[in-house]
Amino acid sequence: MYSIQELSDIVEKSINQTNLPQQPERLYEPIKYILSTGGKRIRPVLTLAACNVFSNTIDDAIYPALAVEVFHNFTLIHDDIMDNAYMRRNKQTVHVKWDNNVAILSGDAMSIYAYQLLQKVKPTILPSVLNVFNTFAMGICEGQQMDMDFESKSFVAQEEYIRMIELKTSVLLEGALKMGAIIGGASNSDVLNIGEFGRNMGIAFQLQDDLLDTYGDVHVFGKKIGGDIVANKKTILTVMALSHAKGSDLELLNSYYKLPNMDPAMKVDAVVALYNSLKVKDYVEELIESYHKKALSHLGKISVAPAQKVILEELTERLMTRKN
Ligand code: IPE
Ligand code: IPE
Ligand code: MG
Ligand code: MG
Ligand code: MG
Repeated sequence: MYSIQELSDIVEKSINQTNLPQQPERLYEPIKYILSTGGKRIRPVLTLAACNVFSNTIDDAIYPALAVEVFHNFTLIHDDIMDNAYMRRNKQTVHVKWDNNVAILSGDAMSIYAYQLLQKVKPTILPSVLNVFNTFAMGICEGQQMDMDFESKSFVAQEEYIRMIELKTSVLLEGALKMGAIIGGASNSDVLNIGEFGRNMGIAFQLQDDLLDTYGDVHVFGKKIGGDIVANKKTILTVMALSHAKGSDLELLNSYYKLPNMDPAMKVDAVVALYNSLKVKDYVEELIESYHKKALSHLGKISVAPAQKVILEELTERLMTRKN
């Protein structure tokens, strides 16, 4: 079995070996830039780890793992335009460093590049791997549209919110794991189980992202703290606050979302004060733990020796306590 460190090293080395053209410079430079800014590389590591659960060799999973990471980075470029975000991984976002048009087109090229990498998979498994890839790719678009629709809704129920993050975030973690499992030769039921594990872990992962966006440390998290509040995003914090706030608190909370010219720093302070008084952070932490437990219960159903699954348990543990 490979360790998390060994898998991360394989991913890093493979990303460094990707060979993109030089010209046109403003098309390829942003792609090289975002891929060089790092990030946790969770998704490709999940693909390799999932393959390794069922197979001793992971070579066939390397290109699909890269495809997943390239696709993820493409979604981040476009997401940062949509969320008006100027910082990611402690660096300028692509649309700020270049401009929106460059970010749109480089993102488009990256999504095609992801398919080129995926195409290198063995022809016998290409159809099933492609099916998983297309499912998450379309799911992310649906989730991202729901995310934007929610910005202007005055109330979002927890179930609707969970459905949205399942699509914008979970499906990719689920798919990354399923692809690895398919390549490793897993049975259909184990592919489904590992997918369910990833779906629940992905929900917990996005809830944690929402929490860090408000309560994280800017240098460690690498994104602007309070960015979601400023951009009027409905996060799990907003959803919880809206469902617990009453009377004047509720009026106040709603008013912050309707004041277009409120000073951003003041808005963040005011909303965080409300979150704190409503104990929203505690509720979210409980919810994260419940999805963590669900994820582990699905991991338990996979029909391989427990020792084979330790790496996925460890990865989950790391994600639950992550600060970036
Ligand atoms: C960011 O994903 C987008 C979300 C789904 C929250 P990551 O937190 O995995 O970002 P990187 O790749 O490590 O920077
Ligand atoms: C990320 O959601 C979902 C996708 C990029 C598809 P967020 O908007 O919360 O991600 P960050 O916080 O910008 O990384
Ligand atoms: Mg964003
Ligand atoms: Mg977003
Ligand atoms: Mg976020």
